[in-house]
Amino acid sequence: MTIARLLACSAVSLVLAAPALATDPDTVDLAAAEKRAVETVARMKPEEKTIITHGIMPLPGGGPKVDIPADAIIGAGYVQGIERLGVPALRETDASLGVTWVMGARNDWATALPSATSQAASWNPALIRRGGAMIGAEARAKGFNVLLAGGVNLARDPRNGRTFEYFSEDPLLSGILAGAAIQGVQSNHIISTIKHFALNGQETGRKYVDVKIASGAAHESDLLAFQIGIEQGQPGSVMCAYNRVHGAQACDSDWMLNKVLKQEWGYKGFVMSDWGAVPSIQAAIHGLDHQSGEQLDPGVFFGSQLADKAAADTAWATRLNDMNRRILTAIYAAGLDKNPAQPGGTIDWDAHALVAEDVAKQGIVLLKNEDGALPLAMTAKSIAVIGGYADGGVLSGAGSSQVMGKGGPAVKLPVAGSGIWAGFISESYHRSSPMAAIKAHAPNAIVLYRQGQYIKDAAELAARSEVAVVFATQWMTEGLDVPDLSLPRGQDSLIEAVAAANPNTIVVLETGGPVKMPWLGKVKAVVEAWYPGARGGQAIASVLFGETNPSGHLPLTFPAEESQLPRPRLDGSDWVEPDFGGNPKNGKDKLHADYDIEGSDVGYRWYARSGTKPLFPFGYGLSYTTFTHGTPVITGTAASVAVTNTGRRAGADVVQLYLTGRAGEPKRRLVGFGRVELAPGASGTVTMTVDPRLLADWKDGRWSIPAGDYTFAVGSDAERLSTPVAIKMNARSWKD
Ligand code: GLC
Repeated sequence: MTIARLLACSAVSLVLAAPALATDPDTVDLAAAEKRAVETVARMKPEEKTIITHGIMPLPGGGPKVDIPADAIIGAGYVQGIERLGVPALRETDASLGVTWVMGARNDWATALPSATSQAASWNPALIRRGGAMIGAEARAKGFNVLLAGGVNLARDPRNGRTFEYFSEDPLLSGILAGAAIQGVQSNHIISTIKHFALNGQETGRKYVDVKIASGAAHESDLLAFQIGIEQGQPGSVMCAYNRVHGAQACDSDWMLNKVLKQEWGYKGFVMSDWGAVPSIQAAIHGLDHQSGEQLDPGVFFGSQLADKAAADTAWATRLNDMNRRILTAIYAAGLDKNPAQPGGTIDWDAHALVAEDVAKQGIVLLKNEDGALPLAMTAKSIAVIGGYADGGVLSGAGSSQVMGKGGPAVKLPVAGSGIWAGFISESYHRSSPMAAIKAHAPNAIVLYRQGQYIKDAAELAARSEVAVVFATQWMTEGLDVPDLSLPRGQDSLIEAVAAANPNTIVVLETGGPVKMPWLGKVKAVVEAWYPGARGGQAIASVLFGETNPSGHLPLTFPAEESQLPRPRLDGSDWVEPDFGGNPKNGKDKLHADYDIEGSDVGYRWYARSGTKPLFPFGYGLSYTTFTHGTPVITGTAASVAVTNTGRRAGADVVQLYLTGRAGEPKRRLVGFGRVELAPGASGTVTMTVDPRLLADWKDGRWSIPAGDYTFAVGSDAERLSTPVAIKMNARSWKD
């Protein structure tokens, strides 16, 4: 049974398979693709061997000027093809959340998926596969054959400006979901990336920050997320990151690219650089196969300079053949040459919008619901809608992943003063008004709006209304981190004032990641809607009025305070200019991120180890119904948990199975999960296959688990756990 079908029929099943490349595990034979690649390389003339090894960013005004070929499409990347050999040009677009808008430069639009954190909150691989298939179809219909998707970096720091582009803090959840997204994208016969490899945990000084982490801890956390994502999704390309690891730039890291990715994991695809992430030609020897956006680097290293190296040195010539073979393997595995993507393809916009809406609905997390404040009654007479530009739309994240619908943003707030990034990043809201959707659900209610910049006025409206719904936003962008986890622009004071005026206050959060909630005790309900995408307004109203029963569960911990984090202050945030490129003014050798503090205990694992209680734990989420869980039944690596819907309405539950102890040592590791939809009173069973790597330590190239009692517990989140069951395990050690 292929991985894709396995995911569909059982909650979560991990199949230990060598990483390979395929558009659809059912239809593509990697060996055949690689064989074709070897044959094509053998037919290449010397001057043809440095054509597909580098490419430009075809974006007018995007950095240093380059000649843009006529057959390029405005977007992220263009790589010339080799017509004589039938090798297609590569036309690359961003990103994980849909086909990016490039500030309207291409004068078209796309369907915006909700943020990756929203997607992850669904804990639903099949749904995320659908989302990937949808955005991949739009990329293909626009003529792109590479989608720079698959952002999977672990949320080591919730202040990371790209938190909204990544799934979670856990390697299993992130890897499974990234793999599903990649499968969906590549089902369109286009290549997906997985990115940014690896340990890209902050945007502050992103090209200079040097990550320190022990190899074992990296293998058990960030690298494991990539390893699982590659096994499950089989991406044609891995995009290496900007940051440094152990002193080397990630795109120049022999350890990560050659030793881990290609030798330990046997990866057959190609490593493309991030844009402007290649320090020198030596990166080719250290495992980089393709220079992207070459005009952003200090030089075009992978063109004639590489040809000269190969002509003069057989080791370079051999390496150059390998680079071409890897790129061609990815092209053939995805079927780019046999299924050429052409602009002008048809797009079923309505169907795609519904995919985005489904994802948003399943990603919404109900964090608090006191006295049955939610769902709202359709018969409500007066509803105050306050803040969050809720009359116009829903917030989205900025940077290279920015997608925009038809007509561009409903609201666009410029945030960068000058330079090429000034137009590139702005605080933009999708044209999907929560207020309009609320009105549609309560046609007889008086629904009035206040933007919230006049707090007293907003509070007075709340006082006159039956219920007040306050929308609070936290904007995030690539290139910048948020300085802390407070809601910006004095929104906390706005919420306090509204709640004081009307105790029946509901807060809807549109955030990139976790935020603090000093007003939590004063409001009746809190809903986390994240960046909910093209139909976010409809999804939010559907949950608020109970048409959708919320089933989201947090994919990352919400801290109570920044002091709970392994690094209470982001290194460099006190002196690095918060500019897009993150270029520290005080010398690049001073910026470090010490991930050895927490090691592989990222997120909820850190809270369990440090004994601190967050505001809301990983995996947390309420419903309009209730569920009970049976005792986990574990036989070998097979696990199952019975679930019953004990409430009066249909709903979906996310069952989480945690390792809580290993040979007498306390542990907290998610080892399996599954989402199940149940009618009132119905029961079901979630089955999982536990990947032994999640029980193991990694050391000197091997996984090992000690003999002893292993205890497992079912969780509604990482804190509320059932009585553990103990399983005896024998000692075991193995290589990947
Ligand atoms: C960016 C991002 C990367 C994106 C690339 C092309 O700076 O880091 O995620 O795919 O450039 O736009």
